[in-house]
Amino acid sequence: MQKNTFIPSGVLKISNLKVSIDEKLILRGVNLEVKAGEVHAIMGPNGSGKSTLANTLAGHPEYKVESGSVFLSGSNLIDENILEMSPDERANIGVFLAFQYPVEVPGVRVQNFLKIAYEARFKNQPERQFKKAIDFRKHLQGLADELKIDKDFLSRGLNEGFSGGEKKQLEILQMALLEPKLAILDETDSGLDIDAIKKVANGVVKIIKKHNTGVIVITHYQRILDYLKPDFVHVMIKGKIVESGDATLVDKLEKKGYADL
Ligand SMILES: Nc1ncnc2c1ncn2[C@@H]1O[C@H](COP(=O)(O)OP(=O)(O)OP(=O)(O)O)[C@@H](O)[C@H]1O
Ligand SMILES: [Mg+2]
Repeated sequence: MQKNTFIPSGVLKISNLKVSIDEKLILRGVNLEVKAGEVHAIMGPNGSGKSTLANTLAGHPEYKVESGSVFLSGSNLIDENILEMSPDERANIGVFLAFQYPVEVPGVRVQNFLKIAYEARFKNQPERQFKKAIDFRKHLQGLADELKIDKDFLSRGLNEGFSGGEKKQLEILQMALLEPKLAILDETDSGLDIDAIKKVANGVVKIIKKHNTGVIVITHYQRILDYLKPDFVHVMIKGKIVESGDATLVDKLEKKGYADL
């Protein structure tokens, strides 16, 4: 595994990342560093490559990495180029992606799915494993309470018959359970009603505070950012981050759009 000169306080460091799909170059050299506890928003026009970045970080096989590196500081303080890892390995060291379009898995109960995900995430930490299923359920229910998520969801099929907003809430519960080092939220706010955005965003803030998670939030709208209060806002256009700033950049974009960039 490749060694590097990564600053120890960083969680994630993306350098000159180029990614193609079907021979077409989509990401054309992305650089981004996310430290523990920081919130980075990525905005940008439709088709600019935001989800491509999210999926590449999660290890989706359709996306071909042409060049670049993505280092995540590992649990044993050894930095690892996650591009050399399988999606499962990435999840197990604490990379979490909340999808733009969560999938339904009929027949698999939410809490069973979450139990498997939890056991994989903490498989190297035997002290974190629950010996009895009931203890795991209690832990999960405690988190659902904290996030004000309806516990009835837990015994239903994974996303089966869930409304769009309910699926997104479940993703936040999954995030809380997996205690990620890095979480990528791809349009978690889309399709959510005003109260649900607040609930989801407040849940994310709680998780960040509790676990010092670094967060990349991809969004088209200001509202979720009012709650998440990003430390940095980046604009992606045609596969590159063309502008970065603080939260005031969001106001500018709301007023002027992307045309000037
Ligand atoms: N699986 C795929 N096959 C072919 N083309 C793809 C695939 N995934 C993405 N693309 C193309 O890559 C480009 C970037 O798409 P991506 O989904 O990353 O955009 P985005 O910034 O997330 O847009 P949106 O804001 O609409 O979600 C688009 O032109 C898209 O058509
Ligand atoms: Mg997208």
